[in-house]
Parts: sequence; C-alpha cells; structure tokens
Amino acid sequence: MNERTYILVVDDEQAILDSFSKTFAQEGYQVIQAKNWGEAHLHIKRQQFNIIIADVKLSDIEFSQMIENIKEENKYAYIIISAGFSDIDAAMKSLRHGAHDYLSKPFDPADIVTTMRKIVDKQRLQVDNLQLFDTIKVLALALDARDHYTHGHSQQVTEYAVDIAREMELSFKEVDIIRDAGILHDIGKIGIADVILLKPGRLTDEEYTEIKKHPVIGKKILEPVHCLADKIPLIYHHHERIDGGGYPDGLEGDNIPLGARILAVADAYQAMTSDRPYRKALPALIAIEELKRFKSRQFDPNIVDVFLRVLRRVGMDKPANNSNDV
Ligand SMILES: [Fe+2]
Repeated sequence: MNERTYILVVDDEQAILDSFSKTFAQEGYQVIQAKNWGEAHLHIKRQQFNIIIADVKLSDIEFSQMIENIKEENKYAYIIISAGFSDIDAAMKSLRHGAHDYLSKPFDPADIVTTMRKIVDKQRLQVDNLQLFDTIKVLALALDARDHYTHGHSQQVTEYAVDIAREMELSFKEVDIIRDAGILHDIGKIGIADVILLKPGRLTDEEYTEIKKHPVIGKKILEPVHCLADKIPLIYHHHERIDGGGYPDGLEGDNIPLGARILAVADAYQAMTSDRPYRKALPALIAIEELKRFKSRQFDPNIVDVFLRVLRRVGMDKPANNSNDV
C-alpha cells in the first residue's frame, strides 16, 4: 500500500528535505521535494498527494494562503504544517485555517515514522469518508434540481449561512460544518411523497405534518455515515424556533445548536425570496421586514442582525433590489 502513498515535502532547507525523503523512502512512501511554494504549487496542480508537509514560514507565501491553495488543488490531502521551536505558535494557528496537524522541528526519524503510519491510515479513512460525502452531496443537489421551485435552494441557503458564520467570525471548522449541513439540510425530503413535495398549491394540515418529518428522515438517512456526525444536529434542528414552537423537538433559545439557528435564518430568507407554486417571491425588503418581525419568536435576534449586516454590505436592503436578484 505504501508505494501508493504520495507525500509532498516543502521546506527551504535542503537538509530537512533530504532527511524526510530518506526516512519516508525506507517506509516505501513516494516522496516529492519542493524547495519553495512555487515548486510545490506546480506539483499539486499536476497530481494528488495523500500528505503534504509544509514549513510554516516559506518565503514566497503566507501559510493561510498556502492552505487555501492546497485545498483548491488537492482537496483530499492531509496537511501538516512543520515549524521550528520559535514558530510553533504559528503552526498551531494553522489548524484554525484548515491544516490537519503540525510537527515541531527538528524531527526524530523514529517518531516521525510512527506518526506517519498513523496519519496514512487516518488519511485513507478520511478520503473514503469524503468521497462518500461527495456522493451524498450530489444526491442532495439532485433532489433540489428536480423541482423548478426549489432549484438551487440548498446551494443558496448554504451561501447565506456561510456568510453569516464568517461575519460571526466562527472558526474554519465551524464554517465547514455549516457549509456541509447547508447542502444537506433538506435531504430528508427524499422520503416525502412527490404528490406532497411537488404539490402546486397550499398544503393541507395532514400534508404539512408529512413535510415536517423531513428533518427526522434526514437524520435517519445520514446517521450511518460516521463522518457526518457533526453535521446531523444542524440538519435535524433547522426548523426549530427560538421560542420553542418549532420542530422536531421544540427546542428553545440556545438549546438549539448555533449552526441550526443560522441555517433557520438563511433558509427562511431564501424561501421567502423565491417563487413558490402558490405565491410569487417576496421582494428582499419585505423578506427583511419579516425576519425582523419574527426576531426573538422564530429566529435568533443576534443572527438576524448579523444577516442584515451582510445584506446591507451587498446592497440587498435597498428598495431597488427585488427578490429575483437574490
Ligand atoms: Fe427544511
């Protein structure tokens, strides 16, 4: 298996590159060296690596930008930031920017081999999970696309929710969870009959009761997928209301997971500002008024305020905009 494990090592010290290469080659890993980010970038554009070990202080790139570039080109790579003793704080900070691990230099070859064996196993499992997750996302987007009225709904909800999460300065990991949960939030609708889901008119009480089962169905569908465990609470609770009047559990206030409260605002705004079989889209300004009106009843007031700030910044709170531009 090891001969199929590709490791890219990026460091401006040749001695460190050679020491990594020697140690890893003995384990049978395929090691590629790069002396700077420019060289490394060419490699990651050409091939997928299992593991990328990069020095925190490369002269030609900031580590946060480097992590972003790696994720664009090598989305399944396990990113390890290495650092000398004096830069260890920066290496730890890199975890907030999406690195998976950090190593302190100088390395003990025996330690690094043990660490690397564990990481190789972890990375393989992670790739399996991510590939499975990608398949589920495709299903969720396909579900969205079957209906003219909900076309692009989950995608748009996700964009709003991520904007809110970033405005709240949530961590990289929390933003990621919200992004994934946004795409999957309505996946439970797969278990609702088409006559109800695609009904071109208002729902009866019985039909509405059926629709309300979708967060529970979503949870049941996704529960066996281990890597989705941290997204499921957001999906399950995205129809709770801050006053406890929502579903499925009638949770109140802060008992509702933060990500679910964010999705609730994004979801409601997207739904209001898009056409439905029984009504036209509301203009953005009216939808904003509705969010304000239901602050503290349906929605977390702080999250509504944050979202209004986001909309204000992009000029969405002006009368000239109508909902079709949303
Ligand atoms: Fe929903």
